[in-house]
Amino acid sequence: MAKPKILVTGACGQIGTILVKNLRELYGEDNVIASDIRTTGTYDGPYEQLDVTDSNKLFYLISKYQIDQIYHLAAILSAKGEANPVFTWNINMNGLLNILEAARNYDLDKVFYPSTIAVFGQLTPRVNTPQHPNITPETVYGISKAAGENWCQYYHKRYNVDVRSVRYPGIISWETLPGGGTTDYAVDIYLKAVAEGKYTCYLDKDTRLPMMYMPDAIKATLEIMNAPKENIKVRTSYNIGAMDFTPAEIAAEISKTIPNFRIDYQPDFRQAIAASWPESVNDDAARIDWGWTPKYDLKMMTDDILKNLRK
Ligand SMILES: NC(=O)c1ccc[n+]([C@@H]2O[C@H](COP(=O)([O-])OP(=O)(O)OC[C@H]3O[C@@H](n4cnc5c(N)ncnc54)[C@H](O)[C@@H]3O)[C@@H](O)[C@H]2O)c1
Repeated sequence: MAKPKILVTGACGQIGTILVKNLRELYGEDNVIASDIRTTGTYDGPYEQLDVTDSNKLFYLISKYQIDQIYHLAAILSAKGEANPVFTWNINMNGLLNILEAARNYDLDKVFYPSTIAVFGQLTPRVNTPQHPNITPETVYGISKAAGENWCQYYHKRYNVDVRSVRYPGIISWETLPGGGTTDYAVDIYLKAVAEGKYTCYLDKDTRLPMMYMPDAIKATLEIMNAPKENIKVRTSYNIGAMDFTPAEIAAEISKTIPNFRIDYQPDFRQAIAASWPESVNDDAARIDWGWTPKYDLKMMTDDILKNLRK
């Protein structure tokens, strides 16, 4: 079978950088077009500057490269988004609508849309959050992603667009830096532990959040995109879980390898955002429908990250 031609938006970000690498290994460098609003990509292979609110350029690139699939990662994340809510809404919402319109008009095979645990809010059960709870997000980011999930379902039902989505928890990586989310501390803590042996955390020590190591995030993304169409029964977005921990627990895990590691706590505005999010999610639907299982827990992830950072 011919390899698909893929466009990735927001490809210079924390997840996009790693996802493009993986997609290129699978489908070939020239079949995966990386794009971002940034003028210079860090890519050797095909790269295009694309602001996702610019539908003309988006449609032009789809024709130019004969695109079959889009992984639509471009967004403004939770913490950064609060600085300018209307700007954030515009990029997150109109960007997605442009992608969905492109999928409909160009008859694309598939679209991937990452949602987030930020869609949940105070009315959502915080422990083992169900797949279809009350959704009352409290950040503009969460509001835009919740609306986005519903738009995905709408385009699927009304136009048969095959758009697939997962609600990522906080994604932890050591190769790429996060772009302004509320869970970024769980990346910074490893970098500071290795570089300085200490870390000041902007969340309280007991703030429990669902998290996932980057290899599992990529695994979930590729697995849902490669599952048979009839297996995708949730057309808003699937909960996916891997691990959950507090800042105190991740610090304790790091201390097993770096015994002198010290952490202190200075909560800022991100504490209120985190307090409105789940502590853990129920991902039974993803497990049953397309076989989701994570590989990494906190210990395995910590060992892997510290080994790589110390190289
Ligand atoms: N990282 C996480 O923990 C996490 C958790 C849940 C969901 N997600 C979702 O995954 C996706 C990728 O997240 P990430 O962590 O890589 O984010 P990031 O902030 O690291 O990267 C986002 C990228 O989008 C680009 N961008 C911003 N505005 C743009 C525009 N108008 N047009 C095109 N590109 C634009 C930025 O330059 C950046 O490179 C996002 O949709 C995000 O909501 C991420």
